[in-house]
Amino acid sequence: MIPPKTIEEIKSTAKIEEVVEDFLNLKRRGVNMLGLCPFHDEKTPSFTVSPSKNIYKCFGCGRAGDSVSFIMDHEGYSYTEALRYLAKKYSIPIEEQQLTPELLNEKLIVDSYYLINEYAKNQFSENLFSSSEGKNIGLSYFKSRGYVESTIKKFDLGYALSDGKDFISKALKSNYKKEYLESLGLASKSGYDFFRERVMFTIHSISGKPIGFAGRTLKSDKSQPKYINSPESEIYNKRKVLYGLYFAKTAIRKEDECILVEGYTDVISLHQAGIENVVASSGTALTIEQIKLVKRYTENILIIYDGDSAGINAALRGLDLILEQGLNVKLVLLPTGEDPDSSVKNMGYEKFKQYLADHAEDFILFKTRIMLEEAGNDPIKRTRLIKDIVDSISKIPDTLKRSVYIQECSRRLNVDEEILVKSTNSKIRSEIKNRQKQSNPDMDYNEETALIDKQYAVSQTDRYTKGDEFQELDIIRILVTLGHKIYDEESNTTVAEYVLANLNGILDNFDNELYQRVVNYVLETTKNGRNLVPNDFITHEDEPLKNLAITLLSEEYSYASWENKGVMLQTQKPPDENFIKDSYQAILRFKLKKVLSSLEKIEKEINTTEDTEKLKTLIQVFNHLQQERNQVARELNTVVL
Ligand code: CTP
Ligand code: MN
Repeated sequence: MIPPKTIEEIKSTAKIEEVVEDFLNLKRRGVNMLGLCPFHDEKTPSFTVSPSKNIYKCFGCGRAGDSVSFIMDHEGYSYTEALRYLAKKYSIPIEEQQLTPELLNEKLIVDSYYLINEYAKNQFSENLFSSSEGKNIGLSYFKSRGYVESTIKKFDLGYALSDGKDFISKALKSNYKKEYLESLGLASKSGYDFFRERVMFTIHSISGKPIGFAGRTLKSDKSQPKYINSPESEIYNKRKVLYGLYFAKTAIRKEDECILVEGYTDVISLHQAGIENVVASSGTALTIEQIKLVKRYTENILIIYDGDSAGINAALRGLDLILEQGLNVKLVLLPTGEDPDSSVKNMGYEKFKQYLADHAEDFILFKTRIMLEEAGNDPIKRTRLIKDIVDSISKIPDTLKRSVYIQECSRRLNVDEEILVKSTNSKIRSEIKNRQKQSNPDMDYNEETALIDKQYAVSQTDRYTKGDEFQELDIIRILVTLGHKIYDEESNTTVAEYVLANLNGILDNFDNELYQRVVNYVLETTKNGRNLVPNDFITHEDEPLKNLAITLLSEEYSYASWENKGVMLQTQKPPDENFIKDSYQAILRFKLKKVLSSLEKIEKEINTTEDTEKLKTLIQVFNHLQQERNQVARELNTVVL
C-alpha cells in the first residue's frame, strides 16, 4: 500500500516530458513537445507532450494521460507498479503502510525468490558460455538451431550441468536458503539439482525479472519429458504468464497485433528473424488471464498453429474465451510438419510474413470452414457444427460484429440467417439466465424470468431506440461546437454543411425531439447561406436548445466517459485537430444506427404482412438496407472479416 500523500508527491514531482523522454525523442514545438507516438505506427509525429499541463496526448490515436498512465500504458504496469516506477525514478521513498509482520515476511520471501532466480539464471548462463560441457553440448545445440549469441544472451538461455549437485552446492555456498531453492524448484528434496543436463530457457515477468525456468532435454529417449518447468510459486503463476511478453510488448503495441505460437523456440526464432510481436502460452491451453494480459496491449490476436497440431478442434473450442474478451482472433495454419520456428528459417522473414498475410483467417470463418469440411453432409454433424458456431458468435460482445458474422456464416453454412439470429439470441438469453442464477441462486423462478425478460428487453431497446440518442447527440455536438469551422478549404464548405449534406434523407430521423430542433434550426439557417457560430446557439430563444448548447460548449470533453457509452470518439477535448475525422465518424455511426433501426422495423413488417406485393417490396428494401449496413460498417472498420 502506498500512502495517499506519497501518491500525491509522486504525481506532482514526475515531469511528463522527463518520463516520456526515457522512451522516445521529443522535439520542442512552441510551448509543447512533439515525438513519434509509441502507441501506434506513424511517420510524422503527433504525440504531443504539454509540460505546463503535465500531460501527453496523441492526435493520431487519441491516447492521452499523465505520467502514471503513460508508464502504465507503455510498460503494461498496474497503477501501483507505475507509481513505484516513478517513485524510483525520482528517488521518492515509499513508506509502506501497515506492513504487518506476515506481509513483511511475504515481501522478504518474494524478494529472495527473485534474487535466487537471478542467481540461477546467471549460473545457467555461465555454464553455457564457460564450462566445457555447456559449450560442447548446450551452446553448440543452440548454435545448430541457428541462434546467434546476441539472441542467446537476450533471452537468457543457459545450460544445467549433468553433475547433479553442481548448482545446489554453489547456491548453498552463496548462502541461499535450501528451503527457498526447493520452493522455486531449483533443488529437489533429496538434495539434487532439479534441472540436470538440459538447455535452459528463462521465463521472464512482464518487467523482465526471471520468475521461472524451462529445461529441455537434448536426449531423444522418450522416458524423459522433453521439457520440465519450474513449479508454481509466489512469483510464478503459469496461468498468468506468456513466454516472451517482456520482449514483445513494445512491438505488440506498435503492430497492434499479438502473434501467439506454441513453443519457446518458436518465440525465439521469430524474434531473431525480426518478428517481435510474438508470445507463447507454453504448451498449455490459453487462459483467461493470459488473454487479459494481451488485451493490455492490443485487441488483435493472430494464432499460428503447427501444420500437424493435434486436436485442433478442441483448441478451437478454447478460443471462445478470446471472443468473450472482445478481441479479434485470426488463425494461420502452417504446412504439415512445420512449426513457426522451422517455417521462418525455411522461408525467411519476407516470405514468412507474406505467408501469414495470405493465410490468416478470421477465427469464426476458419472454424466454420474446418468443421464444414469435417461434417460433410452428415446431418447430425452439421447440426452440431451450427450449434458450435452459434455458441462462438454469441460470445462476441459487439452487436454489430455479431450480425455481420451471422450473415456471413448463414451464407457459408447455407442456413437461413433468421435461424442463426434466433439461436444466437436464445443462446445469449440463456447465458444471462445462467449468470443470474449464479449470482442469486435463491431467486424465485418467476421473479427470475421476469427480470431476465426485462434485462433482455432493455438491451434490445438500448440497441435500437434509446441507443440512437448517443449517435444523435454526437451529431448535435459537432453541429453546435464545430459547425462553423471550415471543413474543406477549396469548396469553402463548413462542417455543418458537410454533415447536413451527408445525412441528406435521414435528417428527419432524430428520435430525440430537442436534437431534431437543433438540426432543423441549422438546416434552415444554412439554407439561407448563414454560417452559425456557437454564440447563435447560446443566445437562441428556444430555452432547452440554448441550455443544451451551453452544456455542450462548456463540457470538459471526456474521452473515457464517452468510450464507456460505446461511442468511439478519437479525441478528447473539443477536437480541433481532429474534427474532420470526428465529423466523418459521427456521420457514419449515425447512419449505421439508423440503418439498423430501419432493418429492425422492416423485419417486423416482413414477419407480419400478409400482402404478397408489399412483402416483395419490403424484402427488396431489406436487402438494400443490409448492403448499406455492410458498406457503412466496412467504412467504420468495425468488423475485420
Ligand atoms: N511443452 C512442455 N512440456 C513438454 C512438451 C512441450 O511444456 N513435455 C511445451 C513447451 O512450452 C514447448 C511447447 O509445449 O515449447 C511446444 O512443444 P514442442 O513443439 O514439442 O517444443 P518446441 O518448443 O517446439 O521445441 P523444439 O523445437 O526443440 O522441438
Ligand atoms: Mn519446435
